[in-house]
Amino acid sequence: MITLGIETSCDETAVALLEDGRILANAVYSQEEHRMFGGVVPEIASRAHLEKVDRLAAAVMKDASLAPRDLGLAAVTDSPGLAGALLVGVSFALGLHVRYGMPVIGVNHLEGHISAMYLSHPDLSMPFLALLVSGGHTAIYRVDGVGKYTCLGRTVDDAAGEAFDKVGKMLGFPYPAGRAIEEEARRAAATDRTPPFPIARLPGPSLDFSFSGLKTAVKYFIAEKGAEWTRGNRPLICKAFQEAAINSLVNNCAAASEASGIRRIALVGGVACNTRLREAMRQRLGDTVYFPPPALCVDNGAMIACAGYRRFKSGLTRFPHMDPNGAL
Ligand code: KG4
Ligand code: ZN
Repeated sequence: MITLGIETSCDETAVALLEDGRILANAVYSQEEHRMFGGVVPEIASRAHLEKVDRLAAAVMKDASLAPRDLGLAAVTDSPGLAGALLVGVSFALGLHVRYGMPVIGVNHLEGHISAMYLSHPDLSMPFLALLVSGGHTAIYRVDGVGKYTCLGRTVDDAAGEAFDKVGKMLGFPYPAGRAIEEEARRAAATDRTPPFPIARLPGPSLDFSFSGLKTAVKYFIAEKGAEWTRGNRPLICKAFQEAAINSLVNNCAAASEASGIRRIALVGGVACNTRLREAMRQRLGDTVYFPPPALCVDNGAMIACAGYRRFKSGLTRFPHMDPNGAL
């Protein structure tokens, strides 16, 4: 069955075609329009999706030499995300349904990120833990099957990617800053003494995260050192921040793995592109840490098509949602 995946929840307009578990075409437009604002502007995002989504869909169809009537299913992100941005994707999918009649399934964006794993590692057996680290979310899920997720811990304030982006803004990098921070950190000499930024430890056995204290520590450190020192020592600050953020992610994954007895860990979401994070996870937790290629970690239509297809095949057509007890 051919599934069209549509993702418009934030600042990537993304469309992909999947034949069962195989990607036929995958196109992403990363909206450059937000760079000068240092963050995503919702109205600009909606407008850019509106201008791009049908063209991208036409391009992937052409790429795969398919016509709309060949589509067996349309899967579209329906939550969470910017309301106006989601509305563009959902309206587009419903428009296709009205014109061509294929079923449409709503997909939770977080389930989409986790589902990227099945594209890169179709043999990954369950249960596994998923560390989902993106610009909007940071959480550890236990994954027991399609639609069976238990949240073991989540951020109580900023998401990890959000912390990278905010620290990047303080240092003068354009939005989104995660990749630039990683590259800048690599320029720091191995022998440099990095400033000791704090890693939040929440009370008791909690597997929750907190990144706002780390972000504030970087802010005060920069203010104390002054603009000139900061300009000359950006690699050092980036390295210290990145190491602290990664330590917190790795510590909680290790604790979750120990508490649950599950050794298989999937690393998904935009921050999972970070090679230092991948390396640190493998160093601490071994080769049972898996991650999709970077193109499937950042927002993309293939992960949404995959999540929708798997839900559809399992007869789970109810829209998933985040319930207060932490299930996905
Ligand atoms: O999953 P994603 O594309 O969108 C959301 O669902 O949020 O993630 C985007 C986030 C941004 O915060 C971006 O700075 C971060 O992923 N990111 C990275 C790297 N590449 C992207 N963070 C750290 N290191 C990277 N290499
Ligand atoms: Zn995302």
